[in-house]
Amino acid sequence: MATQFRECHSLILKKIELRNFRNYVRQSSEFSERVNIFSGANAQGKTNLLEAIYLLALGKSFRAGHDRELVRHDCQAFSVQGMLTGDVFPVQPSTITINSDGSRKKIFLNGTPLRKQTDLVGMAKVVLFAPEDLQIVKSAPSFRRQFLDIGLAQCSSIYRDDLYRYTAVLTQRNRFLKDQIGKRVDRNELAAWNDQLIKYANRVAAGRYHGLAILAPIASRYHAMVSNQREELHVSYKSALNPASKSSLEPAAETYGHALAAKLHELEYAELARGLTLAGPHRDDLMLTIPDQGELRVYASQGQSRTAALALKMALVELIKEMTGDYPLLLLDDVLSEFDNERKSALLETVMGITQTFITTTDPERFSDNPDCKMFRVEGGAIQE
Ligand SMILES: Nc1ncnc2c1ncn2[C@@H]1O[C@H](COP(=O)(O)OP(=O)(O)OP(=O)(O)O)[C@@H](O)[C@H]1O
Ligand SMILES: [Mg+2]
Repeated sequence: MATQFRECHSLILKKIELRNFRNYVRQSSEFSERVNIFSGANAQGKTNLLEAIYLLALGKSFRAGHDRELVRHDCQAFSVQGMLTGDVFPVQPSTITINSDGSRKKIFLNGTPLRKQTDLVGMAKVVLFAPEDLQIVKSAPSFRRQFLDIGLAQCSSIYRDDLYRYTAVLTQRNRFLKDQIGKRVDRNELAAWNDQLIKYANRVAAGRYHGLAILAPIASRYHAMVSNQREELHVSYKSALNPASKSSLEPAAETYGHALAAKLHELEYAELARGLTLAGPHRDDLMLTIPDQGELRVYASQGQSRTAALALKMALVELIKEMTGDYPLLLLDDVLSEFDNERKSALLETVMGITQTFITTTDPERFSDNPDCKMFRVEGGAIQE
């Protein structure tokens, strides 16, 4: 199956160098602009490599609780360096370097340190699809919020800043509420925190509504394709602040702030009793439904969860392209074994032809005669072409 590449894409990871990262001592690999296949037995370093690529894009791992875990055992520090081309970079190719001793991380663009980690986000954009992503469909709202937030943060520096500020205000407001327990409430300070919270909540909600308005129809289209037109996926924003418009993407985001103000007033007693902010974007959710069947979170079968998660991830690839002009790097970690042949073909034929792709698998045979694929073998923390 040779894939027709639709266009010349600008964002390419040409090369990676790892030093004392996870089970890699010293590794240098050059990648194909198209599809890169990493095969090998279990526990050899396939996911570790995808983790390093993800790190170059987002400055943090998708699975390590702490950077300390990324430093090779018995070593002092790790280094991950990527050489990339893309319109966002000042020179072609540019290098992103991430050094960490496990507690302090330094990020460099072409040798110059970045001021903060979030300045990295949005350069080497990435979409990862791993078996754990099934949780997006069935698990708690935080998984769905995170799915959308990581996507949008890579699309817009404004969204990134708004989300960062909202989270900071939320933390401080919670601290204030906790501090008021059992005391006479400082009304002026509460009003000031409410204003700040509402201001950034409004912006975060606006960003999410906007992104979702683009993402939802694409996800539906992919879902119809992967499910062979059997089922239709509806994606909408779900917020306690907007109960009347549960299934719509239309509610004007500017009304969100007004609704939040009213809700904070209504919840004041409960918030002060618990020392916790009980409404806002940090409590919202994405609602995934199949008409006539109800919410997937409640009713989805394993297969339906897989199809919906796949459709959402493929839609995220398109959303990033739509909002930034760049297709993200696509990382597929061991997901092929999760799918039946029908879904496997849908995934490979659509997404593989769009963007630079990195696939880990224990079953490389299906790719070996594909001229679009560069084959790598991963063994004991070493990658060989
Ligand atoms: N900080 C570290 N230092 C040294 N080795 C590590 C470190 N962190 C993880 N490893 C090792 O890396 C290996 C796991 O690598 P990885 O998760 O990439 O496996 P994989 O090839 O993706 O396997 P699978 O097919 O099972 O998913 C394990 O053997 C683990 O012990
Ligand atoms: Mg793995």
